[in-house]
Amino acid sequence: MSREDPTKGGSDFRGRVAVVTGGGARGDGIGNGRAAALLLARAGAEVVIVDRNEEAGRGTVEMIEEEGGVADLFVGDVTSDDDCSSLASFTVDRFGPPTVLINNVGIGAPGTVLDTEPDFWDRVMKVNVASMYLVSRALIPAMAGAGGGSIVNIGSISAIRPKGLTPYSTSKGAVVSLTRAMAVDHARDGIRVNVVLPGPVWTPMVQRPTMTPEIRERRKNASALRIEGTGWDIGRAVVFLASGHARYITGQALVVDGGVTVLSPVR
Ligand SMILES: NC(=O)c1ccc[n+]([C@@H]2O[C@H](COP(=O)([O-])OP(=O)(O)OC[C@H]3O[C@@H](n4cnc5c(N)ncnc54)[C@H](O)[C@@H]3O)[C@@H](O)[C@H]2O)c1
Repeated sequence: MSREDPTKGGSDFRGRVAVVTGGGARGDGIGNGRAAALLLARAGAEVVIVDRNEEAGRGTVEMIEEEGGVADLFVGDVTSDDDCSSLASFTVDRFGPPTVLINNVGIGAPGTVLDTEPDFWDRVMKVNVASMYLVSRALIPAMAGAGGGSIVNIGSISAIRPKGLTPYSTSKGAVVSLTRAMAVDHARDGIRVNVVLPGPVWTPMVQRPTMTPEIRERRKNASALRIEGTGWDIGRAVVFLASGHARYITGQALVVDGGVTVLSPVR
């Protein structure tokens, strides 16, 4: 039996270019995108942070540079096709063709089909689903030209355990289908496509004024492990799927939720 391990060295991202959408975060908060960007940079990748909020994105670039990593900021809106085209040129000119793409942008969206307005519904689908289509469409030619790579989309357990966020759950369900379809379409280009489904993790996205200590405790205790997930937990899963350690994994949805979704609803 051969002891040759084809995944050996898979966690080394030196010489690789990674693009992380929504890679910024408020203040010194650690969002899923910022955590993934920091971990990719620590593993040696040159990272393009994409954010429409310049201050949030700049914060991540500065954090990476303070640690001795290499990153740059592209300020743009991933729902704009023009911005996505400019992102592709910016990335190739600045660092060369990307081989890692983390499609992280997503917004929360409460409501049912009865109490959401059609414009709001369209906006959620645009930000959470069409953005991944537009960014991928802009970057895949360069990735394929570089011999392939890895795309990791960020979904949510809301896709499989909906609760009062119908536009959001629907959009994240579409992200799972988009991931599987893209995995089939681009396997021949050497591009793997997977999705991470985070549970209720503690990130700036959920740190709103309505987030009371009681709700935070309830979110934590919703998991079988009864620990609070963070952006780092999501970032680690993202980096694993992007790495050579996951070279035989494509089209998969990885739930990272402390066991929220394995619990029986009857307790
Ligand atoms: N925090 C949770 O509990 C949780 C749970 C499940 C899934 N998620 C998913 O995680 C992802 C976000 O994670 P995060 O913590 O990095 O979020 P975040 O809210 O901190 O967002 C990161 C950045 O995205 C940027 N952004 C938003 N819309 C943009 C756009 N159209 N173009 C460019 N930039 C844009 C924001 O400016 C922000 O700086 C989302 O897809 C979200 O649905 C989060």
